[in-house]
Order: sequence, then structure tokens, then C-alpha cells
Amino acid sequence: PIPILDSVASCRAWRRKALSEAKSVGFVPTMGALHEGHLSLVQRSLAENDLTIVSIFVNPAQFAPHEDLATYPRTLPRDLELLAAQELHVTNTVRKPSAVFLPGVRDMYPSGISQDVESQNGTFVEVKGYSHQMEGKSRPTFFRGVATVVTKLFNLVQPTNAYFGQKDIQQALLLRKLCSDLLFTYPDMDHLHIVPTARDPVDSLALSSRNAYLSADERLFAGTLYQALQCAESTWSQGGTKEQSVSAAVTIIERSREQAALKGVKVELDYIEMNHSDTFGILDGEARKDSESLERTPVILSGALWVGKTRLIDNIILGDH
Ligand code: PAJ
Repeated sequence: PIPILDSVASCRAWRRKALSEAKSVGFVPTMGALHEGHLSLVQRSLAENDLTIVSIFVNPAQFAPHEDLATYPRTLPRDLELLAAQELHVTNTVRKPSAVFLPGVRDMYPSGISQDVESQNGTFVEVKGYSHQMEGKSRPTFFRGVATVVTKLFNLVQPTNAYFGQKDIQQALLLRKLCSDLLFTYPDMDHLHIVPTARDPVDSLALSSRNAYLSADERLFAGTLYQALQCAESTWSQGGTKEQSVSAAVTIIERSREQAALKGVKVELDYIEMNHSDTFGILDGEARKDSESLERTPVILSGALWVGKTRLIDNIILGDH
């Protein structure tokens, strides 16, 4: 079995030992209910570091009071089995994850934590100017919760490298900004790596812990979001404007919404948007692929879709060269 660190003190001791042995440390923060997406981050960390540590912590601060904190899938025994089974052959040795950090809520929030921002006490981290676009528009306190917990985790683990998924692209880019703004050394912004989105082999649905909420009928329509994003991508790459690209995606979703309704499944668009990856600013409606302002920075084409009571997100990076 994989060594478990269940307190801040044991995590610190583990880190001190790695330091004394001059070993590089790769870190994969998660909220558990692990799937192949998480495991692809672990594999990348195994490949690039002497030691790999994974944290599992369902962070109350990033859930709004009306969101799914209480029902968020918790599958710890299976998570530990999956992690214990991870290995990577490197020259003459086999690398496996070295430790799992499983803090309690009190460990991570010594001053306590309330999901109601107004009644919170203690220290919080806000990446101002980047937290209220895209995902942050629908979830205004989400990125404050993420930035706060990841700051704490980075302080403890002091990773040489940290790994995040492209599935949550705004989160990963915002955390890079956090490392840069707060002058973090471990990791510095160049050692926060973004790993491509792992998808279902059949319909390309982005893997997510929340997919577990989908009923069999709902699951049939969950691939709609990525299909819509791909349609927008192809309109864009053929010279369409942002407005045309987004409306191509909306048409796909509308069609799926009608078909789903016949089966009694509710499909409802939250948003499809195109934003600059450096500022998260919304692209001008008339903007095109070859616009001068887009020559250097990639564009994030992202969206969120409700399928029943489950909110799915996905994105494609355009012009990432
Ligand atoms: P969680 O949703 O568990 O995701 C943990 C990491 O796995 C994140 O970096 C996420 O982007 C990545 N991930 C999820 N699905 C993926 C997929 N299909 N392909 C590739 N990577 C994927 O994101 C969080 O937890 C939390 O916000 C956290 C960063 C742990 C802070 O609480």
C-alpha cells in the first residue's frame, strides 16, 4: 500500500526528508474520486520527478453554499488502490507514487471554514482580475477557494513541479499567475505544468469526478459540450468570427437539448465563450483567427453545460503553438 500522510506535521516531515535526500518532488493536488485524468497527471509527475505526492482533499472553500459539497463523490479506498497500482519504469527502476496527503478540514483551515464568504475568518488568497470571468462568472467564490487551498498545499509540499489538468484551464492559468504574483519558489510559475484533457474513448466526454452523477440517459447527451466546442473550433479555423463560432456551438447544443427533452433529460447551456488566455478578457464578436491582437496569445474556447443536475465543463485551446 501507499504511505499515507494524514496530518500537516507528517507532510512536513516527509518534505524535510525529501529535501535532505536532495530529491525532486512532483505534486498532484486532487479532490479524489480519481479517474484516468488524475492518473495521467500522476504518470507525468512520475516521469519528471524522483518522488511524487498526491493530495486528496475536498476543499469546502471552493463550493458555494448551494453547490454539491455534501454529495461530492468520495471513493477513498478505491483512490488508494488506483494510486498504489500506478508505476512507471525508468531505466532500471520502477517509480511509484511516494505518498498520499489526506488532510482533514481542521488541518487545512486552522481558523475554521464556512462556505458563506461573509462569515469567513482567517486568511484567503484572491487572484484579482482573473477570478470572475468564464467559470468565475457562474461561480464567483470558486477561484478564491481554489487559490487559498492551493497556496496552503504549496506551502506544505513545496513541490519542485506541480501538475494540473487542461480540463480546468482557467484554474491552471490562474494558479500560474498566483505563483508569479506571490513570488513562489516551489513551484515557480514555470514549474506549474498543464496536462492535456483525458477523454472518454468513445464520445470524447472530458473525464470528471462529477460524471458519476450522470444517469444512463443523461450520459448519452454529456458528449454534446465537446461536440459543440469542436464545431466552434472548426468554424473559427475556417475563418469565421468569434460570434459565428460561438453560435455554431450553440446550434449543436440546441439540437441536443431538443433530442434530450424527448427522453426527459434536461440539457441546458450555461455558457460558451472565447477569451484571451493571458487576460481572460472576452474576445470581440468580430474577432477572427488572423486578428492582429490574437497573433501571439492563444484563445480559450470554453463552456459549461447542465445535463440534468450535473454541471459539465470543457475547453479547447485555439492557436496554441
Ligand atoms: P479535481 O477536480 O479533483 O482535479 C484535480 C486535477 O485533475 C486538476 O488539476 C484537474 O484539472 C485535473 N483533471 C480533472 N479531470 C481531468 C481530465 N479529464 N484530464 C486531465 N486532467 C484532469 O481541480 C481540483 O480537483 C481542485 O480544484 C484542486 C486543484 C485540487 C484544489 O482543490
